[in-house]
Order: sequence, then structure tokens, then C-alpha cells
Amino acid sequence: MSSCFTISLPLLFFFLNFVYTESAPKFLWHYCPNTTLFSPNSTYQSNLNTLLSSLSSAAADGADGFANATVSQNPPDQVHGLFLCRGDVDIATCGDCVATGKQDILQRCPNRRVSVIWYDECMLRYSHGSIYSVMEQVPSFTKFQTRNITNPTQFMRVLGETMDDVTARASVGKSGKKVAVMEANFTSLQKLYTLAQCTPDLIVSECNTCLRAAIAGLPQGKQGGRMFTPSCSMRFEMYPFYNASAIAALVPPPPYLRSPPAPVTRRKGTCLLLLFVFCYIR
Ligand SMILES: *[C@@H]1O[C@H](CO)[C@@H](O)[C@H](O)[C@H]1NC(C)=O
Ligand SMILES: *[C@@H]1O[C@H](CO)[C@@H](O)[C@H](O)[C@H]1NC(C)=O
Ligand SMILES: *[C@@H]1O[C@H](CO)[C@@H](O)[C@H](O)[C@H]1NC(C)=O
Ligand SMILES: *[C@@H]1O[C@H](CO)[C@@H](O)[C@H](O)[C@H]1NC(C)=O
Ligand SMILES: *[C@@H]1O[C@H](CO)[C@@H](O)[C@H](O)[C@H]1NC(C)=O
Ligand SMILES: *[C@@H]1O[C@H](CO)[C@@H](O)[C@H](O)[C@H]1NC(C)=O
Repeated sequence: MSSCFTISLPLLFFFLNFVYTESAPKFLWHYCPNTTLFSPNSTYQSNLNTLLSSLSSAAADGADGFANATVSQNPPDQVHGLFLCRGDVDIATCGDCVATGKQDILQRCPNRRVSVIWYDECMLRYSHGSIYSVMEQVPSFTKFQTRNITNPTQFMRVLGETMDDVTARASVGKSGKKVAVMEANFTSLQKLYTLAQCTPDLIVSECNTCLRAAIAGLPQGKQGGRMFTPSCSMRFEMYPFYNASAIAALVPPPPYLRSPPAPVTRRKGTCLLLLFVFCYIR
């Protein structure tokens, strides 16, 4: 019995962690200048609510990681918005992330006419100005690992080559998504993992420009870093942080294999039950 628990406890944490990351989008940053505000209870506010609901439904209904929307034809009240999910997340995760963003953005950005919010899994933004098919490189933010790289010269070479490659692939896109991942051998023990993504409304050259600027903004000499702008993002780590098979599956036109996953709570229960059964049998 005790050996069973030594085996099952790590498994338990693995499953709990899995369930947790799936259900709670990881907040990264938000930006919403207080220079352009709307009045509470205005038409802009109700249009914004309509917009966020429509984006959130689009995400849940399988918009395949990206959607844009505009509410109202009357310029002062017009709201434009879009969301982008990370290219490797499934529709359920994407839907959760945008649904969370819809609530969160209104709380973090009260009465703001222009806002953007980032999570690990998605980005959501809206504006009174047109944003569809417009490359936007500000605001931007970076995150990085505190650990330094031990062999910076060699590392920068491998990183530079890999980023060139992943940028070229992401810019072209596949299955209507502008995303690519690439791995490279750094040392015999260490591997480098990179992910590049643009909103799919950008043309190839714009995506390329956006990613190049993002690369230039990445931290140097660190074991990992990310750079985000409203139109694109770039990330590298010394561990696999993305689902490579989900990206690999993008190559041909998207197959309709998207059975929605079982509700999270049920899945968690099943995992626990299986662990109990496993322990009981032993
Ligand atoms: C806007 O934000 C700035 C800096 O965050 C702050 O100093 C200022 O008081 C804010 N203005 C309003 C109207 O909330
Ligand atoms: C906006 O509407 C809510 C509920 O309808 C009301 O409680 C609130 O006082 C209104 N705010 C303004 C500024 O009119
Ligand atoms: C949304 O995107 C589509 C292309 O997918 C574009 O044709 C349409 O004009 C956009 N709609 C709005 C409301 O911005
Ligand atoms: C990383 O290197 C910088 C100098 O390049 C140094 O200041 C810092 O303390 C180092 N960080 C770690 C975690 O070793
Ligand atoms: C990394 O090295 C392994 C062998 O150590 C090799 O099989 C693999 O193809 C290499 N990967 C890349 C991306 O070069
Ligand atoms: C990775 O993606 C594949 C293909 O979409 C999917 O079947 C698998 O469940 C995903 N793995 C994780 C850990 O999300």
C-alpha cells in the first residue's frame, strides 16, 4: 500500500496540475490607458458588452483560435474587438480563456475605450478604432527566466538561427493560423524550444516585421524569454512549453476531430477514482 502511494502521489499532483492549468487561464498583463474613457451606462458600454459576448461565444463555438467583431455602424459608439488563442491550445481551453478575459478586462479596465489583456493561453483586445488587419506593436511587454545561460555566445547563435526559422514559418502560416514552433539542440543535454505567432489577419510581411521586432525585444543571456505585442508574440525556453503535436496537426487543412473534452470536474473525479482503484487493487 505504501509503495502504491509513493507512485500515486506524484501522479495525483500531475493530474491536479493538469486539471488546474486547463481550467484557469494564466494572467500575464493588461494595458488600458485612462486617457480615453467612456461614460458609464453609455451606448459604448452596452456595445462593448455585446462585443465581448460575441467574441466569447465565437471562441466557445470553435472559431479556431481567432475571431474579430465590430458592434455598431455609428462611429462614436463603434467598438472593434478580437481575440487570439495560442496556436496549440484546444477549443475548450481557448473558450475558457476568452470567457475569463471577458470578465477580467471589464474589471481591470473600467470605462476604458481601448484595452488589451494577455494570458498564457489567449489575448483579447478591443478599441474604438479599427484594429482588424492593422499591425500593432505597442504596447509590448516581456517576461524572462532569471537563470542565466552558461554559454551565451553559442546560445545566441542557436537561438538566432532558430528564431529566424520559426519566424519564417509562422509568417506563412498553416490552416489559417500564423503560428509555428521549432526545437533545436543546444548541447547534448539541453534543447531549445521556440514558438512564434501572429494574429492571422496580418499579411506575411507584417507578421514577419512584427516578429522581428519581438525578437529584438527579447532578453539576452537568459534561459527563457517572451515578448508580446497586440499583433504577435515570441517565446523561447529550455523546456517544452507547447503542445507540439497540436501544431504538427495544423499542417493539412484542419481535420474535424474536435470532440469537446469531458467537463473538467468529471475528468478530475475520474482520475482520482482511477488512482483509488489502482491503490485498492494493489
Ligand atoms: C490615469 O493614470 C495615471 C497614471 O496611472 C494617474 O496618475 C491618473 O490619476 C489617472 N487619471 C485618471 C483620470 O484616472
Ligand atoms: C448605471 O446604471 C446602473 C444600473 O442600471 C445604476 O445603478 C447606476 O447608477 C448608473 N450609473 C450612472 C453613472 O448613471
Ligand atoms: C472580421 O474578419 C473578416 C475576415 O475574417 C472580415 O471580412 C470582416 O470584415 C471582419 N469583420 C469585422 C466586423 O471587422
Ligand atoms: C545573471 O547574470 C547577470 C550579469 O550578466 C548577473 O547580474 C545576475 O546575477 C545573474 N543571475 C543569476 C541568476 O545568476
Ligand atoms: C537533436 O539531436 C538528436 C540526436 O542527439 C537528433 O536525433 C535530432 O534530430 C536533433 N534535432 C535537431 C532539431 O537537430
Ligand atoms: C496536444 O494536442 C493533441 C492534438 O491536438 C491532443 O490530442 C492532446 O490531448 C494535447 N495534449 C495536451 C497535454 O494537451
